[in-house]
Amino acid sequence: MINNDSEQSTDLLAIERTYLKEIQDREERFNLVIQGTNDGVWDWNVSTGSYYFSERWIGMLGYQNNEIETNFHGWIKLIHPDDLGDFLIRWTDAAVNLSTHFVMQYRLLHKNGHYLWVEGRSILLFDEDDEPYRMAGSITDINERKKSEAQIKEKNLALEDSLKKLKATQDYLVQSETIASLGRMVAGFAHEINTPVGNALTAISYISDLDENFVNQVKLGLKKSSLDQYLMEISESHHIVSNSLEQAAKMVKSLKKIAIDEIHDEIRSFNLADYLSEVLLSLRPKLKRTHHKIEINCDKGLILNSYPGAIAQIVTNFIINSLMHAYDEGVYGVISLQVIELSSEIMRITYRDDGKGVSEVQMSRIFEPFFTTAREKGGSGLGLSLVFNLVQQKLKGVVTCDSTLGEGVCFTVDIPNNIEHSEVNIPHNFQI
Ligand SMILES: Nc1ncnc2c1ncn2[C@@H]1O[C@H](COP(=O)(O)OP(=O)(O)OP(=O)(O)O)[C@@H](O)[C@H]1O
Ligand SMILES: [Mg+2]
Repeated sequence: MINNDSEQSTDLLAIERTYLKEIQDREERFNLVIQGTNDGVWDWNVSTGSYYFSERWIGMLGYQNNEIETNFHGWIKLIHPDDLGDFLIRWTDAAVNLSTHFVMQYRLLHKNGHYLWVEGRSILLFDEDDEPYRMAGSITDINERKKSEAQIKEKNLALEDSLKKLKATQDYLVQSETIASLGRMVAGFAHEINTPVGNALTAISYISDLDENFVNQVKLGLKKSSLDQYLMEISESHHIVSNSLEQAAKMVKSLKKIAIDEIHDEIRSFNLADYLSEVLLSLRPKLKRTHHKIEINCDKGLILNSYPGAIAQIVTNFIINSLMHAYDEGVYGVISLQVIELSSEIMRITYRDDGKGVSEVQMSRIFEPFFTTAREKGGSGLGLSLVFNLVQQKLKGVVTCDSTLGEGVCFTVDIPNNIEHSEVNIPHNFQI
């Protein structure tokens, strides 16, 4: 019997030792994990109201064990006022919705007075009546991560800002280029219009000489032959005056039309073939000095509902570029503009010259703002970037360039016939 009792107590001691060893092992393992993660740990027994905050939890905020109120109230006091509302909502939500886990990032007040960003992970245990009876969790110091995030955000904002400024500058330059090209067109016109107006003035002054002479002859006794001569010369001079003024009026009319379209920038229906002829007429001062052949191939009945001013600017830029870059002095080229309807909704303008063309590298940059091979001749490199913006943004179309060095360039512009049909989708097979 005695033997049995002592045997039993020896067994119990052995079991106790095994359990104790097991508990020690578990605690050691737990401590190792916690030390390894470097997290602060807390544990709240809701039933007894007791709290546990690990040394690391307290130390992370720069405090010693006894310097901190280790309960929910003490914890709440340390939370940044901007995060507290969210913190309490998340806790309540978790308790109400029986969520067993939740994670949130918030700031805790450090003893030194600054706030420390932490990521809190919590676990909630509920009893059979769905009441939380224990909550526990950890906090990880994520201050450095937050700092880097804030720096990246700041840099991104600065980058976005620079990008916006760059875009605004580009828009401004493109706008200035539009106004400048209009200015150049007006200057060319002023020069050009001098000829017909000058001819008309010469003819009128000749008429007044004829009149004076005629009056003198009448006083002396007018002969029939002199009268005939006078009438013939007067008629010829009138013819010169009316032809010259008609020519000047036609030029003013086309200048007005193009300039108004470019400035007013409004959608209207127009006959494309007629409009392209007007654009060519407006370029007469420039074209007259060259001997290039310009061919337009466009269906006379094609009506477009779009921005005529934008089309004038695009074609003008193509032609001016051919005059400026494609041909050496004395070389006569052929420039052509062909318009075809790709479908009932999409129209294609193909512009070609047979000049020098561009290399593959230049072609890949041709629509880039400020790309020019003619800076010394006053090129700003904005002409084709303006074309690109006008086609893409204003006309809702696509422009592409194709060229072989020595064989000229070919620009293809695909645009909707009716800009107000916004659902027309033109494939973008080209990117700058
Ligand atoms: N028809 C063409 N033939 C050969 N090269 C061309 C032709 N059109 C354009 N280029 C090349 O493309 C470049 C860019 O043209 P873009 O119209 O944008 O600028 P630019 O004509 O040089 O200057 P800007 O138009 O601002 O006065 C030109 O500098 C030229 O090298
Ligand atoms: Mg140009």
